Amino acid sequence: METKGKTKISATLKNTKKRVFSGIQPSGDVQLGNYLGAIKGWVERQAEKENFFCIVDLHAITVPQDPKDLRHQTRSLAAILFAAGLDPNKCTVFIQSQVTAHAEACWILNCTTPVGWLERMTQYKDKLARQESIATGLLDYPVLMAADILLYDAHEVPVGDDQRQHVELTRDIAQRFNHLYGETFVVPEAVIPEIGARVMGLNDPTVKMSKSYAHIKDHAVNLLDEPKEIERSIKRAVTDSGNEIRFSDDPEKAGVNNLLGIYKVITDRSKEEIEADFSTARGYGDLKTRVAEVVIDELRPIRERYHALMSDVAELDRLLARGAEQARAVSEPKLEEIKRRVGLVLPGEL
Ligand code: TYM
Repeated sequence: METKGKTKISATLKNTKKRVFSGIQPSGDVQLGNYLGAIKGWVERQAEKENFFCIVDLHAITVPQDPKDLRHQTRSLAAILFAAGLDPNKCTVFIQSQVTAHAEACWILNCTTPVGWLERMTQYKDKLARQESIATGLLDYPVLMAADILLYDAHEVPVGDDQRQHVELTRDIAQRFNHLYGETFVVPEAVIPEIGARVMGLNDPTVKMSKSYAHIKDHAVNLLDEPKEIERSIKRAVTDSGNEIRFSDDPEKAGVNNLLGIYKVITDRSKEEIEADFSTARGYGDLKTRVAEVVIDELRPIRERYHALMSDVAELDRLLARGAEQARAVSEPKLEEIKRRVGLVLPGEL
């Protein structure tokens, strides 16, 4: 996909290989939506471009986290990403807080980002509505995300649909900075899959499948769930009172549409083929059985590799340390360029 932004890009920004940047929070279990909306696509296209995948622990602490759990979840998420197929020889996987340029760039971008832009973000407004008191970091969350992306001159940001607005904001932040200080940033594009970008809750197909609802039984399939648990959650998925198995925008059929979407992303077959296949199915019971089978088969090897990786934490840490080093090699010179642009005196100049 080509960058559509018309921004004139200076010579230093012309990477020979296009860059891709994306991130995921180490907060709670990784669920099927994260996998189908983001991780699966990252794995499939990791050889095409220069890819950076970030475990965004600084984003995770914008809501309260237990320190011990957070440390565990950070490594566990790294193991899941490698187990899902990210290859450290083809892409860079790293922990955000280990590359201090992210927090520094966030501060500088804070100083050119109007508060009103942040107050309009739907994810922020949703969280605000659910909590009595919120941390400043939660409002500032999208600016840190912009810093993540812009430090790498990333052209593409592969994400699920819920991150579309944040990538749009990143474009606005980049354009404003470029306008104020001269061409500095590539204006990135969100890359959102056609199907799988919005996997819905199994217990309620009107809400997005989310780690925030992990406490609700049968809401999500988690990547490390055992086959029996996967089967149970999918068998209990809410559907409708009909028996027609077809892709549809009809809100009434949201549950069936969600199951078919999951099936489509995993099997990579056309809608027509899938609908023809299910035309002889006997009701939603058959559909659920088949969806459970493909999900179980897809996740089994990931779960097995995950446990093997977690049994050698020293090796995992070595891979993450190498990833952070590769990330610093790109982001530190970029941070210097940003600092120079705004008039900060660099340590080397003293
Ligand atoms: P996070 O951790 O909430 O989610 C990680 C990725 O999973 C996608 N996703 C879904 N896709 C389809 N259906 C769902 N139900 C579903 N739930 C989640 C998300 O869209 C995302 O792509 N702010 C980001 C992390 C981030 C980031 C970045 C992403 C920080 N810096 C820079 C891109 C670039 C987040 O919280 O993702």
